[in-house]
Amino acid sequence: MRLKDKVAIVTGAGSGIGRAIALAYAAEGAKVVAVGRRLGPLEETVAKLAEIGAGGLAFSADVSVSADVRRIVEATLDRFGTVDILVNCAGVQKFCPLLEVDDPTLDEIVDTNLKGVFFALREVGREMARRRKGKIINISSIGGAVGRPLRSAYCASKGGVDALTRAAAAEFGQYNINVNAIAPGIVETTMTRELAQDPENAEEFRMRIPLGRSGRTEDVVGAAIFLASAESDYITGIIITIDGGTSNVVTRASEIRALRESAERLGMEPRMNPESSSA
Ligand SMILES: NC(=O)c1ccc[n+]([C@@H]2O[C@H](COP(=O)([O-])OP(=O)(O)OC[C@H]3O[C@@H](n4cnc5c(N)ncnc54)[C@H](OP(=O)(O)O)[C@@H]3O)[C@@H](O)[C@H]2O)c1
Repeated sequence: MRLKDKVAIVTGAGSGIGRAIALAYAAEGAKVVAVGRRLGPLEETVAKLAEIGAGGLAFSADVSVSADVRRIVEATLDRFGTVDILVNCAGVQKFCPLLEVDDPTLDEIVDTNLKGVFFALREVGREMARRRKGKIINISSIGGAVGRPLRSAYCASKGGVDALTRAAAAEFGQYNINVNAIAPGIVETTMTRELAQDPENAEEFRMRIPLGRSGRTEDVVGAAIFLASAESDYITGIIITIDGGTSNVVTRASEIRALRESAERLGMEPRMNPESSSA
């Protein structure tokens, strides 16, 4: 077990990527404080942790409110006495052309995705600094580095998370705290399910994603475990992209067609199917 007896705070742990990370950490021996606004989904996560014999705490808090983030730290120390790992996974996304984004929407996205991460770095970072030890993993997005239409506020917030990851790494190294980020592409969760399941988009994924499918939460957990474990002790300030190759290539439909034709000529059927397993 790579995280035996470690205490991890995971925000956004009531669903999607955050829940998958919480469960994966528990399977590696960690105790998890599952954070989100709605208590119900967090309690479901903690019940799943209990099924595998792991300790957990469901804690309702809004990461965009600094006083709430302080309460997360207090509750964690009260219950488990320490905090070793922080995963900033809570996030929101709204699709809207920049010219139509209203102030409340902009505030919600930036307050949650960027200020929420800042508050947690400050509040949890202070505690970790006292102990001279800690692992912080921010869940960013490829939108932080690549321009995407209809996501201006989201991309801005995630670009901020990337910058904050590097800046915090520069400051926290002296306290033996590693700060890294994971930038997923499209991962099938409630945030993107409609997008991922739309047949038109499925065809686009086949075309645009070199590995031929959208991501699944299990695709993200390996990096999250690695960045929380001793295996990454000499790594800080990096952003691991997990997107099936999307942001590293530019492809045209005609080029993809030529590649398919080549595979046919060679008698090698391409495995470009969103349902296909990564195994
Ligand atoms: N799915 C993707 O394709 C994708 C791609 C790149 C990056 N990401 C990032 O991955 C992270 C997780 O997203 P997901 O795909 O797993 O979506 P998700 O299932 O919608 O999870 C988001 C979680 O964040 C929590 N949350 C939202 N606002 C919060 C707040 N103010 N305070 C506390 N918790 C809050 C939500 O719970 P409550 O509503 O109960 O608070 C929810 O459990 C996000 O940061 C997202 O930007 C996702």
